[in-house]
Amino acid sequence: MEVVILPGSKQIGSLAADAVEALLRRKPDAVLGLATGVSPLPVYDELARRHDDGGLDFSRARAFALDEYVGLEQGHPQSYREVIRREFTDRVNIAPENVHTPDGLAADIPAACQAYEDAIRAAGGVDLQLLGVGTDGHIGFNEPGSSLASRTRIKSLIEQTRRDNARFFTSIHDVPHHVITQGLGTIMEARHVILIATGAQKAQAVRDFVEGPVAAICAASVLQMHPHVTVLVDEAAASSLRLADYYRHTYDNKPAWQGL
Ligand code: GLP
Repeated sequence: MEVVILPGSKQIGSLAADAVEALLRRKPDAVLGLATGVSPLPVYDELARRHDDGGLDFSRARAFALDEYVGLEQGHPQSYREVIRREFTDRVNIAPENVHTPDGLAADIPAACQAYEDAIRAAGGVDLQLLGVGTDGHIGFNEPGSSLASRTRIKSLIEQTRRDNARFFTSIHDVPHHVITQGLGTIMEARHVILIATGAQKAQAVRDFVEGPVAAICAASVLQMHPHVTVLVDEAAASSLRLADYYRHTYDNKPAWQGL
């Protein structure tokens, strides 16, 4: 796991966008794993800018979102299908039919979850997965206690997550209790994972998943078992890391050929 501590969101967005750009140049039909939340927004802004100014081409790219609320009506502005469209995919030239989100309105949810797993596999798997992290250490919507081997399935949200996400709704009462999320086992199959965390409110979760034990109580800690994870954090989110100086030293002296 590589931890990169950067001054702020702009640098984080730019470095993550470099990785996406390098991937698309190497593999124009790459499969991107997309996250919602505030954390990846600087990456989406930077990719949209590079598309507009530099012609970065997404025409053959495919994308899979991590998760979706259950039960929000079609077109609901806070459904992750809409959020991903608004924040990213409408701003670049990715084909809408190549952008997938779990079906939170499916009559048969287990079948929809299996279909999602099948679609990811049929696309050849996720090349680069962008992640945020919840204050309780969740990735996607894999709340504490999630099986480290879990696949796409329905989950119930912890009250803290509903409170955290109430900022996007009119009131906490409008935040669904149920979600569909890629499982930890699903996320672990992505070839490269870039997790972004910013702000002091993420410091404890970052400390727990980077330097704590691998345990279901902190779902993101499973990433310690992944061979290629990049954690991009600002100073505030890095403030509880015990080995912060070591991570800084390592990154400052990294061979230029290594990339992310
Ligand atoms: C939600 C999403 C996660 C996201 C998390 C953190 O719960 N399901 O994918 O990482 O929020 O969001 P933010 O980046 O806004 O802090």
